[in-house]
Amino acid sequence: MTNNLQAIILAAGRSSRFNTKNTKLSYKICGQEMIAYPAKLLGQMKIPTTLIVGYQKEIVKETIEKHNLEASFVEQTDQKGTGHALLLTKDLWSKENILVMNGDMPLITKEILENLIEHHSKTKATITLVSAYNTDPSLQSYGRVLKENNKVEIIEAKHFKGDLNAPCFINAGIYLIKKEFLEKHIKDLQYNSLTGEMYITDLIALASQKNYLVETINAQFDLVRGVNTLKELWAAEQIKKSELINFWQERGVYFSLAQSVHIDLDVTIGSETLIGMGAQLLQGTRIGSRVNIGFGSVITSSEIHDDVIIHPCSVITKTKIESHAQIGPFAHIRNNSHIGESSVIGNFVEISKTEFGANSKAKHLTYIGNAKIGSNVNIGGGTIVCNYNGVTKNTTTIHDNASIGSNNCLVAPVEIGQEAITGAGSVITENVPDHALAVARAQQVNKENYALKLKEKYKKNDKIYSHG
Ligand code: UD1
Ligand code: MG
Repeated sequence: MTNNLQAIILAAGRSSRFNTKNTKLSYKICGQEMIAYPAKLLGQMKIPTTLIVGYQKEIVKETIEKHNLEASFVEQTDQKGTGHALLLTKDLWSKENILVMNGDMPLITKEILENLIEHHSKTKATITLVSAYNTDPSLQSYGRVLKENNKVEIIEAKHFKGDLNAPCFINAGIYLIKKEFLEKHIKDLQYNSLTGEMYITDLIALASQKNYLVETINAQFDLVRGVNTLKELWAAEQIKKSELINFWQERGVYFSLAQSVHIDLDVTIGSETLIGMGAQLLQGTRIGSRVNIGFGSVITSSEIHDDVIIHPCSVITKTKIESHAQIGPFAHIRNNSHIGESSVIGNFVEISKTEFGANSKAKHLTYIGNAKIGSNVNIGGGTIVCNYNGVTKNTTTIHDNASIGSNNCLVAPVEIGQEAITGAGSVITENVPDHALAVARAQQVNKENYALKLKEKYKKNDKIYSHG
């Protein structure tokens, strides 16, 4: 059946109910643009696809290209309605059946399309469309699918004379139509006299009145929700998010306060991992098994291996963390950093573009950038790697088993040898050889009893000032 099929996605609309600068089709649901949902699905089902684009067509095209989806494009310069959009694709109709669908239905599933195709093929209908039963009176904007005396028609909400609050079968915006019928009758579509738009939905009454067989299949309403407003986008994302969370729950992932967690579509999580409330796992992040992600942590495009603990409020971007490492709370690791096995990155530590060896530790208030840290290195609290001289970034290398005292400044480029030690408060500007102790700070001077003298002096001064 899919051999006789081609698809058209309607994606040229102006998104006027979104009240945003960019087209609604570029807005993301669980990290993926709205338009990519139907386009990817058709790609997976190997159905050749054309997108009708117009309003902000570059953005829509870029999104399709970004996801490496094969599709052709037809332009609708004036947005004169869904029927007009379909009419413009006329020259590309080559298959026996044309599947037309709205671009703003991100929750659509393969099962619904398969069911539609199967029903259409079995009944040999001229048009088969997807409808759903809606009981929510706050969602009135859908077209109503009305059946009477064996005739079917779709009445758009704005032209519906009945009770808009009443539960009804709505039009989902997915139609499978015989090419032969379209070629013959699309010219019969009229512009609506009230709105000036040509509606694809008028094809239904047109076919039905001419005694062509029009069939409907029912889908679960939530899966065919259209997204016309930011409020509807939010509702759709809640549904998608629940789907994803349920998917991972079934695979042994525990979520604390699951409704507060955000997961992108392309994230993977191993079993027995705990995801804390308010955590965000974004953009292709891969989390291993038995990992503990603390409350409020945001992990983007990163790889977290098994048994890692990420304490609360840590921000990790483009980073790979090996197993058994401990991170945070309040750590910031980014810019292609790599944290070795069993290492510890503590609170208020920032790490950028750094290779951080196994079993090494930077536990408190530290910045490390453009560095190569060996294994079993200890970095004292308050240490700063001075990697930027105002013009260029330079590398700091610390070899295995070295120990950096608290509150050091390591002025890059600089190299600290194996098992070397630097004294607390040092400003290290020269390389330190293996096994050496480097102390780079002012010598301490103790003046006997001088503190008492100073106090006397201050008291006198105080009298002069307060009485003078
Ligand atoms: C449409 C249906 C409605 C259905 C609902 C399901 C029509 C007339 N109405 O209403 O029956 O219940 O979807 O969600 O079809 N588009 C174009 N060119 C245009 C206008 C729109 O390509 O000139 C595209 C849009 O980008 C969008 C799709 O067509 O992807 C549907 O348009 P939209 O404005 O969202 O229609 P609805 O009012 O939701
Ligand atoms: Mg819509």
